[in-house]
This record gives sequence, structure tokens and C-alpha cells, in this order.
Amino acid sequence: MLTKKQKNFLDYIQEYTQKKGISPSHDEVRKHLKLASVSTVSHYMKILQEKGYIKREKNTARSTEVEKRESLISIPFKGYIAAGQPIEAVEEFETVTIPSSYASTGSLFALGVKGDSMIDEGIFDGDTVIIRKQSSVEDGETAVALINNNEVTLKKIYKEKNRIRLEPANPRLKPLYVKEVIIQGKVISTFRNIEEQDSKDVRNKLDKIYRSDCIEFMKSMDENSIDLTVTSPPYDELRDYKGYSFDFENIAKQLFRVTKKGGIVVWVVGDKIKKGNKTLTSFKQALYFQQVGFNVHDVMIYRKKNTPFMRSNAYTNCFEFMFVLSKDSPKTFTPLKVKTVRQGKEMLPFNKGADGVNKKIMGELKPEKTMTNIWDYAVGFGGSTSDKLAFDHPAIFPEKLAEDHILSWSKDGDIVFDPMCGSGTTCKMAKNNNRHYIGCDISEDYVKLANKRLGN
Ligand SMILES: C[S@@+](CC[C@H](N)C(=O)[O-])C[C@H]1O[C@@H](n2cnc3c(N)ncnc32)[C@H](O)[C@@H]1O
Repeated sequence: MLTKKQKNFLDYIQEYTQKKGISPSHDEVRKHLKLASVSTVSHYMKILQEKGYIKREKNTARSTEVEKRESLISIPFKGYIAAGQPIEAVEEFETVTIPSSYASTGSLFALGVKGDSMIDEGIFDGDTVIIRKQSSVEDGETAVALINNNEVTLKKIYKEKNRIRLEPANPRLKPLYVKEVIIQGKVISTFRNIEEQDSKDVRNKLDKIYRSDCIEFMKSMDENSIDLTVTSPPYDELRDYKGYSFDFENIAKQLFRVTKKGGIVVWVVGDKIKKGNKTLTSFKQALYFQQVGFNVHDVMIYRKKNTPFMRSNAYTNCFEFMFVLSKDSPKTFTPLKVKTVRQGKEMLPFNKGADGVNKKIMGELKPEKTMTNIWDYAVGFGGSTSDKLAFDHPAIFPEKLAEDHILSWSKDGDIVFDPMCGSGTTCKMAKNNNRHYIGCDISEDYVKLANKRLGN
């Protein structure tokens, strides 16, 4: 199957090659199809090659040959379908192109699939399904069903006594029972959308900062793709983040989805005091992370060495939590070490013998030991960072804090993510330590700031 853009691309190469005897250069294709860059041309070339429509010699200019010369037909692309949701209206009238051998199978249309309700039938998020218009199906066939007058859903259909069962092909989801259903068509084929898949591949998003709501951004990422996340959310609307909303539950779910098995999320968070009462939002969030599937691998403390915050009737608050959440057991742990107080050779206690007398023998004290889970950092200028730019953001965490977690829970070449990256502290420290980074923030100003800080 080809999308409209891919078909235009193929047509141009075919026409050009027939006319001139050689294939067009990338720049000619870019100009003709009004594409933004030559890398977009390469992207389309790769898709057409993977789909078997063209053949290319590696590292040779104008070497593209049209390989598959099958006849094609265009059918309407009517929108998107997801479990229980109505089809979204498509703004333009779109088409997709499929081999003409399908033409004899009846009147056809295409739908884009959203969600994972049919994965056991081999229909995945981002796929395109080809539907043959028909008003009934056999038991167990996959069909587009109209229910409740305006909801369209893709399900396996079973007629039961006095009701119809709409069965998802995903053991995690429950069937839907309805009295009436209008069958709009049957799925006759599924095409994987390579373009969509490519855009979900986080390897195409590396070493950049994106301006987006982090939930939407994570939805555009493949599952199981991030090694480590080090992030800090807005604390109980404690600070003004230009009025942006914060949907914690969906952030937690998406974080779990995009984290690799064995990957870690470090969630740095503090609580607000409302009328003398600590909100304990941090605890609630940690419990919710467990609910979505994370292990609370550790509850660590980030202690601020110098804190200006004071309360007249309580001790000065000097710490925040660093919840270390793991998806399964951590795949990487390189413990940070500190020097021990006493080092070198010393007489050390030895086992009591049968005579009951304590003995001592000469032994070597270890020069260093694994750090505790309370980490101390100076904050403010010269503490959190000496990078003045960073203080254009009201709530940065120390560079060293991000670096210490990066060194502990990831290795060279790993992908480190910060979905609410603010001034870009996590991304900067990932870059400095030979990790890939992906940053995202909802505020355009902070994205600009982070890019400046990273020298992008
Ligand atoms: C505590 S700050 C992060 C600071 C960062 N750790 C640093 O060192 O600069 C939280 C950030 O979350 C961003 N934010 C709030 N809601 C967001 C959302 N829905 N999606 C993405 N970013 C969001 C805010 O703009 C803010 O920059």
C-alpha cells in the first residue's frame, strides 16, 4: 500500500526515468515535490525501497530503478478507527493506493487504526486496514461496526442469544455487548504504515529538544524504547509554568509504556504546604507509579546543602524525594562510590575462637564504599550550575544530581529522556556523558532556553 505522498513520489521517479533514461537527483525530487529537505527525499526513498517499489545502488547518485511495475488503484481513506470511538472526520479527501488485484473484491475503503485493541489479529496502532463494504459478516470475522448510532469500532463479531458480542483481539480488553449493530464492512487486508512506524522510532528523535505536551509526545514514541528518564514535574502548581496543565496519571502510564524492560525513571519531586498541611502529592504519585506497573526500586533523598526556605513553627525543609522507579529489575547499576573515613592496614576484629577470646588480625580497609541513598547538593548559582542561562527557569535541579543518576542507571550510548526538561539540565548532562538525549517541554520559551544551553 502507498499513501498519496508516496504514490506521487513513485510517479515522479517513474515519469522522469522513462523520459530521461536516468533517475532524478535527490535535489530535483525535492524541488519538484516541494519537499523541505533532501533528507525528506531520502526518507521517502527508503520507504519505497522497503516496500519493494524501487531499487537503489548504495552510494551511487541517480541509481534509482523502479522495481515493481504492478498496476495500482486508489481507494478512499475515510479516517481513523479505535475501540469505541467514532471515526474522526478527515479534513481533506485522502486516498491510498493499493494493488489493482484488490479491485475485484468489491467496493473498498481504508481506515487508519488507533490503539491496540486488535493486536492478536495482527492489527497494530498506526496500521491501515482495507475494508470491503458489506452489511453482514460470519461469526468471528473482523468488521467495522456502527453502534449507539454514531460510534464506529473495529471488532470481531459474534451473534449470541438476544445480543451481539463485539470482541477485541487483545486479552487485556473486555468484550462489548450490544443489542444492535450495523455492519459497515469487513477487514480484508492490513498494511503496516512504515512512515508512521519510522516516526515512532525514537532513534529518529535523538539529541533534540521538542516543544510538546509530554503525553502527546510520548504517544509518538515506540514502547520499550527509553533506557533512563530523569525528570521533575511541576510541584503542586507551586510555581507558575505559564499556566500549562499537568495530567499526572497519563504521564505515569506513558512513562511506563516508553521505558525499556529494566529501564529506570527517576522522578524528583517535593510537596507543597497548604495551610500548614503537607500535600503528600509525592507519596500519592509514587503509589500510582506502582499501580501502573513500576517497582519503586528506591526512595532517595535530594538534600539541599544551602536552603533559604524557613518556617517559623517547623524545621527548615531541606530535601526533596527522588523516586527511583524500575520497569522490572534494573538492567544497569553502576554504584557511585565515596572515600571511606579510615583507610589502609589496621588490626581488625576476627572470629572468636573456641576459647571465647576475641582475636584481631591485620587487614586492609576498603578505600571506598557505595554511597548512601541521601545525596547532598549545593543549590543556586555555583551550586546547581555555573551556567547563568539556566536560571531563566524558576525550578532547575542541580546538574550534578542529573549526572549522578545518569552515571548510576545508564551506560554509554543509552537513551536518556526528560519529558518536562525545563532548562535542559538532564539533556545537557546526558550529552556530556556520551548518552543520547531526548527532551520535551510544553513551553516554547523553555525549549529555546534548553537549546541555547545545549549549544544547539
Ligand atoms: C520542575 S520543571 C523542570 C526543570 C528541569 N528539571 C530543569 O532542571 O530545568 C517542570 C517543567 O515541566 C514543564 N511542563 C509542565 N507541564 C508539562 C507538560 N504537560 N508537558 C511537558 N512539559 C510540561 C514546565 O514547563 C517546566 O519547565
